[in-house]
Amino acid sequence: MIQQLEELGTQALKDVEELDSLQSLESLRVAVLGKKGSISEALKGLGSLSPEERPKVGAAANQWKQKLEAAIEARKRILEGAELDRRLKSERIDISLPSRRLSLGSLHPITLTTRRIVDVFRRMGFDPVTGPEVETDFLNFEAANVLKDHPARDMQDTFFLGPDVVLRTHTTPNQMRQMLSRKWPVRILAPGAVYRKDSDATHSPMFHQIEGLWVDRQVRMSDLKGVLDFFAKEIIGPEAKVRFRPSYFPFVEPGAEVDVWWKGRGWLEIMGAGMVHPRLFETAGYDPKEVSGFAFGMGVERIAMILHGIPDLRMMYQGDVRFLSQF
Ligand code: PHE
Repeated sequence: MIQQLEELGTQALKDVEELDSLQSLESLRVAVLGKKGSISEALKGLGSLSPEERPKVGAAANQWKQKLEAAIEARKRILEGAELDRRLKSERIDISLPSRRLSLGSLHPITLTTRRIVDVFRRMGFDPVTGPEVETDFLNFEAANVLKDHPARDMQDTFFLGPDVVLRTHTTPNQMRQMLSRKWPVRILAPGAVYRKDSDATHSPMFHQIEGLWVDRQVRMSDLKGVLDFFAKEIIGPEAKVRFRPSYFPFVEPGAEVDVWWKGRGWLEIMGAGMVHPRLFETAGYDPKEVSGFAFGMGVERIAMILHGIPDLRMMYQGDVRFLSQF
């Protein structure tokens, strides 16, 4: 019987090593070690053995059982490891695959330029403000001392929305809006869109201006020059220079056209400026003997074109991404 167990056990050990699935390993375990397995089966004749032989056979059977259990357990671990490997391989994801690119937009050159300019003046204490693009004739013209027969009011230049309502032709109405809404001192900067009946390579019916106004006791023309000189150096560079040429605007006296000197380009006209006309202070309810002030208005497109080397004004309104994505 010991011989039989020996053969059975040896064969089973060999089988264990050759099996390559957890399922067949389990079947083998049941077939050999189970209640009705081959070892139990072999031990059926135990009762007919002599009392001396019985414990020897029993001990041999137990040894084989332990050996086989250990071998099956070891084989099971190996097969489980292989199974895990297979699963990991089949479920693997390639994390090196590049993701879909997010395409971010960019700021429009007019927005960029406006922000740069506003930032410079903000550092000099100018508060950014806004006003409506649909303006009354009074604020756009009358209160700015542009009288009824002034050529600037001509139907050829102004978009009228009604007898006394216009699309603002400049940001200058912001001066009066601010003065009427607060006491002096006033130090504001008003960027925004303006409208004129004009359209060619250098004129668009809608364009942008930035208006500045500083009203206080004893504001002088030299203050205006100093502020604009600082502005030019911040925007262009330390080599920038500012030049005033006498000019006429109804809302300032004296008035000037302001040129800046740009390296490699020479003198370029970028804004109008001057000392606030006393008539505006009267309309605002300020005493012209108590206060003085300066104002300026600059064209944003022109500055953006020079800063970025944009050859045609119209490119800024066509919405071509090949143009826009460069900023
Ligand atoms: N409003 C003027 C224009 O549109 C510019 C300007 C503003 C000039 C303030 C003088 C003072 O051309």
